[in-house]
Amino acid sequence: FHVDTDASAAQKGAYPYYMLKEIDEQPGVMRTLVQEYFNEDGSIKIDADLLNALSQADRLYVVAAGTSYHAGLVGKELFEKLAKIPTEVHVASEFAYNPPLLSEKPFFIFLTQSGETADSRQVLTQVNAQGYPSLTITNVKASTLDREATYTLLLHAGPEIAVASTKAYTAQIAVLAILVKAYGEAKGLQAVKEFDLAAELTKVANGMQELVDEKGTVEKVAKEMLETTRNAFYLGRGIDYAVAQEAALKLKEVSYIQTEGFASGELKHGTIALIEEGTPVIAVITNPKTATHTRSNTQEVLARGANVMIISSRGVAQEGDQVVLPDVNPLLSPLLSIVPTQLLAYYASLQRGYDVDKPRNLAKSVTVE
Ligand code: G6P
Repeated sequence: FHVDTDASAAQKGAYPYYMLKEIDEQPGVMRTLVQEYFNEDGSIKIDADLLNALSQADRLYVVAAGTSYHAGLVGKELFEKLAKIPTEVHVASEFAYNPPLLSEKPFFIFLTQSGETADSRQVLTQVNAQGYPSLTITNVKASTLDREATYTLLLHAGPEIAVASTKAYTAQIAVLAILVKAYGEAKGLQAVKEFDLAAELTKVANGMQELVDEKGTVEKVAKEMLETTRNAFYLGRGIDYAVAQEAALKLKEVSYIQTEGFASGELKHGTIALIEEGTPVIAVITNPKTATHTRSNTQEVLARGANVMIISSRGVAQEGDQVVLPDVNPLLSPLLSIVPTQLLAYYASLQRGYDVDKPRNLAKSVTVE
């Protein structure tokens, strides 16, 4: 179904579109999450039963669709790198009909902004029938996936009206990070104990604010690179690859530019054939270990005439990079690197004359299979 955006137009305030309002709300959402999930003494407000159930598991299965699936890809990095628990991320519609081989003690995490996605719900029904424990992370209290899962954590992002999801994606990553922190502490992992997540999320909020305050730069790049193009590519490695996939979905959803997110090193194994004079290629570079490799990939496409934009973190930035991200813990870098890509999608859609909030053929919540 379609949310009737006109009925709630008043809430848009001075904003021309909900998508821009929701992009701008992200620093506030990060601050709200710190308040909602952290006590004064730095301990985390997450149900002990949930942490108990989680610590019994030998493997986590994250199930989601669309943007929520992409948040899950970042969640896998957080769970595996920080808390050392194997984590798989699955597209809900695939899992429902082609389930993977499950471990002995699986624990399921459903990521869903709306809490109503039929593909995810179908998997939860199967999970419940088999008696496995589950957690829904959602923005909508009392939604179907909230009611039907064993446990729930809320995103506290406020209503998300624009069809293209923005603040729910960053809220999902932040809540996953909080969950990883609580779980890792319960397991007694020293590295997790030392990770001051409340302080890091506050740094993220400040960094996001800097980025949304610098919209003009991104608007200009959108105009130069995306106004008339038919296709575009996002590149990244590791956690930046996860971001590249979400960034590509955002751009294609609202601008109708055919966009793909690639593992940077994979481009040369076929897709580079599509690069021609003027093809936009946007690289996300935040990891010092792989920065030079991704830079050399951008040189390869530049040599074939591509228009390159680079979004880099301060530690690996070079002169000429279009967006340099404020410093945060590398595992939280997606919370910042996604912001300029959301803005790129927004401005590309506007410049091409589309209704940013209501892209053709899409619904905010897909309640049919
Ligand atoms: C729809 C929306 C997407 C969203 C996906 C999953 O396709 O258009 O923006 O990411 O559903 O929605 P959920 O509410 O489960 O996160």
